[in-house]
Amino acid sequence: MGVVILDFGSQYTRLIARRVRELGAYSVILPGTAPVERILAEAPQAVILSGGPRTVFEPDAPKPDARLYASGLPLLGICYGMQLLVQHAGGEVRDVGTRSYGADRLARVEGPLFRGIEPNAPVWMSHSTAVAALPKGWRGLAATDANPYAAVASPDGRMLGVQFHPEVIHTPSGGVLLDNFLTAAAVPRDWTPEASLERALAYVRERVGKARVLVGVSGGVDSSALALLLARAGIDHLAAFVDHGLLREGERAEVERALSALGVRLETVDASTQFLDALRGVEDPEEKRHIIGREFVAVFRGVARERGPFRFLAQGTLYPDVIESAGGEGTANIKSHHNVGGLPAALGFELLEPFRTLFKDEVREVARLLGLPDEIRLRHPFPGPGLAVRILGEITQERLDIVRRADAIFIDTLRKRGVYGDAWQALAVLTPIRSVGVAGDERRYGHVVALRAVTSVDAMTADWARLPHDVLDEAAQRITREIPEVGRVVYDITSKPPATIEWE
Ligand code: XMP
Repeated sequence: MGVVILDFGSQYTRLIARRVRELGAYSVILPGTAPVERILAEAPQAVILSGGPRTVFEPDAPKPDARLYASGLPLLGICYGMQLLVQHAGGEVRDVGTRSYGADRLARVEGPLFRGIEPNAPVWMSHSTAVAALPKGWRGLAATDANPYAAVASPDGRMLGVQFHPEVIHTPSGGVLLDNFLTAAAVPRDWTPEASLERALAYVRERVGKARVLVGVSGGVDSSALALLLARAGIDHLAAFVDHGLLREGERAEVERALSALGVRLETVDASTQFLDALRGVEDPEEKRHIIGREFVAVFRGVARERGPFRFLAQGTLYPDVIESAGGEGTANIKSHHNVGGLPAALGFELLEPFRTLFKDEVREVARLLGLPDEIRLRHPFPGPGLAVRILGEITQERLDIVRRADAIFIDTLRKRGVYGDAWQALAVLTPIRSVGVAGDERRYGHVVALRAVTSVDAMTADWARLPHDVLDEAAQRITREIPEVGRVVYDITSKPPATIEWE
C-alpha cells in the first residue's frame, strides 16, 4: 500500500519519502533497478522515479525494470526519473551544455497535477540534460523561460514527469503537486501515528508470540519507545538499561521512573566501575568508542546468561539506517548499518526491529501515543558512548563531574529561557586546555569548557545555533560560578562540515 520510490541516486530521494509520508501516505524506497516483482510485492498505488547523478544516455545508466512501464501503475518521474520516462516512450533527451542549478519560475501550468499552483510558481532546478522533444502524443504541462518541458504527461496521463524538484523546500508548491499526484493515483492516506503504532504492535505480537525479548535501553527516544511498545503489546520482555557511568545528570533516575511507571520490566545494570576502569588512561577517541562497545557486549552477555534465555533482541533501528544500508544505487549505500556490534550473532539472538519503517519524528509520535513523557521524548540526541566523547583526553571521575555539571547547567539554562527546542542538540565539552583567570584577588588556572548547540535535520549536516547572547552569558556565568574548577567558557561557532557535532 502507498508509494514505491525508485532510487536512482539523488541526494533528495529520502526527502521524497518524507514528503509523501507528510501527506499521510505510506512510502518505501527501493533501488531504481529493482525487479518489478519486488515493486509489486509492496502493492503500491503509484511509483515515483527519483532524480539521480547520471544521464539517461550513458550506456550503463541505471534504468527501471522495463516491465514497470506496462504495469498500469501511475508513474511520476522527477528530473532523471522524468527523462527515463520520456526516453523510454521515444522522446529525446539532450545535454544542454550548462548545468541548470537553482531557483526558476514556471511560465505556465495546466492539468490536475498543477491544481492550486500559481502559473508563475518558483521551482528548484538541478540538471544538465533536458527533454528536447516529446514522445508522440505527450504534452507539456508547464514550462519555464529556459525550458519548454518543465513538466510533461503521457497521452493517457498515467505517466507524469517534472524536471524540477517538488520535494525540496525551494519549490514551495512542491507539496501541493505531490498531493495532487497522490490524489489522482487514489493513494490511501492511512499513514498516521495511530496506524504506525497499531502496525508495530501487530508486528511484534505476531513475530514474537510467547517468546522472550531482551531490549537494551539507552534513555533515548527510540529504545525507550521500543521498550514501551513491548510492554504495551504484552510481550514477555526484559529491558536492560546499562549505566556506564557516562550518563547525563539525573538521566538514570528519570529513565527508570518513566519506564517503570509505564509497565516496562526494566533492570538497571550498574556497570560504571567496569566501564571507567576499562577507560582509565585512554585518550584516543576511537579507542574510547571501541572499549565502550566491547564493554556493552560484555554486559549484555552477562544479562543474557543470568536472565535468559531470550529468543529475540529488540533494536530501535530506524528507516534511515535501513535505507543507508540497502546497497542499491546512490543514496542507498552511504554507510553500512551500525547496530550493537556483532551482538545478535554472537549471542544467537534473532533481531526484532519494529521501527525499521519509521523516521525519527514518526517514532517520536508513536512514543507520544505510548505515553512517553516529553522530557525523554523530545530530549536532544545523546551519543551511545555518552560523556566519554565530550571529555577530550583522559576520563577521570573529576573530569566527568565537571562536564556533567556544565552540561546540566547549559541545558537547564536553555530550558528556563525557552530556547531548548531551538537547538537540535546542545552540549558541553571539557577541553584539555587550562587558561589563566582571576578569582577574587587571586590568579587561577582553570579548565576551559566549550558549549556547542546546533540546528540540524538529521545530524548529517548541522549549523551552529544562533542562541541569544544573553542566554549564553547566563550559562557562562552560572558554569564559572557553580563549578569553581572552570575558569573559561567558549562557544563553538563551527558548522558541520567541516566540524562534526561532537568534538570527538
Ligand atoms: P557527529 O559528531 O558525527 O555526530 O557529527 C552526529 C550525531 O551522532 C551522535 N554521535 C554518536 N552516537 N555513538 C552514537 O550512538 C557514537 O559513537 C556517536 N558519535 C556521535 C552525535 O551526538 C550526534 O547526534
